[in-house]
Amino acid sequence: MFNFTNFFSKFKIPFLMNFEVYFDIGTTQTKIAIKDKGVILREPTCLALNTRGGDYIFFGNEAQSIIGKTPEFIKIIKPVVGGVVVDFDAQVALIKKYLKRSVYLYLNQNILKPAITGIATIPSIATEIEQKALEESLYKAGVSQVFLIEKNIATASGCGVNVFSHQPALIIDLGGGLIDIAIVGSGGIIAQKTLKNAGENMNKLIYNYIYLKYGVILGEASCEELKINLLNFENEEKTMIVRGKSLESGLPKSIRVKSSEIKEALLTNFNQIVDGVKELFENSPPEIIDEINRQGIYLTGGLAKIKGLNHFFNQELKIDIIQEEVNIYATIRGIINLSKNKERLAKILI
Ligand SMILES: Nc1ncnc2c1ncn2[C@@H]1O[C@H](COP(=O)(O)OP(=O)(O)OP(=O)(O)O)[C@@H](O)[C@H]1O
Ligand SMILES: [Mg+2]
Repeated sequence: MFNFTNFFSKFKIPFLMNFEVYFDIGTTQTKIAIKDKGVILREPTCLALNTRGGDYIFFGNEAQSIIGKTPEFIKIIKPVVGGVVVDFDAQVALIKKYLKRSVYLYLNQNILKPAITGIATIPSIATEIEQKALEESLYKAGVSQVFLIEKNIATASGCGVNVFSHQPALIIDLGGGLIDIAIVGSGGIIAQKTLKNAGENMNKLIYNYIYLKYGVILGEASCEELKINLLNFENEEKTMIVRGKSLESGLPKSIRVKSSEIKEALLTNFNQIVDGVKELFENSPPEIIDEINRQGIYLTGGLAKIKGLNHFFNQELKIDIIQEEVNIYATIRGIINLSKNKERLAKILI
């Protein structure tokens, strides 16, 4: 029998209804929000491809949980590297799935599906082609209209900074793929520096450290666990036992790892971030430095959760650190904030 509901739900009528969806597609975590509900999805930017059939079979948390444990014909894909889309088809499949898992749950009651207007962030270092790749992936996933804003501006707004004021603010977003250091003010970016030695790179440094010191090969998940559970800048010495593969015998081997070892493995990486901030200061006028010195630095992103990291930066830079509670949601909350005033939003769209 002819199904009217199904028939009409296929039509998207932009002038009847318009549904705004916000996207922060991070290297490690994708966050999706809608106007009235706030953040409705946060899952890894990760999926699994069945190379035999060419179809994507696991998405997000499920795909993440099987890293390193799959048969050869299942390939784990992280479609975003260093903040930009590197695997277009996988990215489209992931966004399609995530829209179904989140946004569509709020739309299904309607017979006529509204057109989706997507507002997404893009890192400042992204090239025009990389911007296009993000835009196109959202269109192909079912978004009718796509607007992009610079990630640093959104993150600053999510940290509580009025990005349109003439008072400059310094934000350090410590994410999975990028360390974004930016001075924001007067509705734009005054100065910025992006480093790629972020959270995912730190896991690789831990892998190398354990490999060289203990002759043990660790899986990606174990490296991540060591970083999250052990790393701190409060001289708190914790230990954790992890299992890997002995390089010598090829057999499973357990090792006990200490916080001080993880810190040793990553200290150079953190010092490079400090150098990045100092470099940005060197190239900025004294008025701006003075303002930032008075106001403090905003620290955000997943890595900002590391205990004592604010003290570390404070010691190295001699400036107060404001560590945001929102951390992992600063960018997406910033998009929500900025989208409230369409006139102002228009001024910062790319
Ligand atoms: N409690 C924690 N301690 C240490 N690191 C953490 C903690 N929680 C999350 N992280 C790290 O934060 C990173 C993810 O942060 P975030 O979600 O801000 O990144 P992203 O937005 O996906 O990436 P990007 O913005 O760089 O593209 C990961 O590397 C993760 O290991
Ligand atoms: Mg991010």
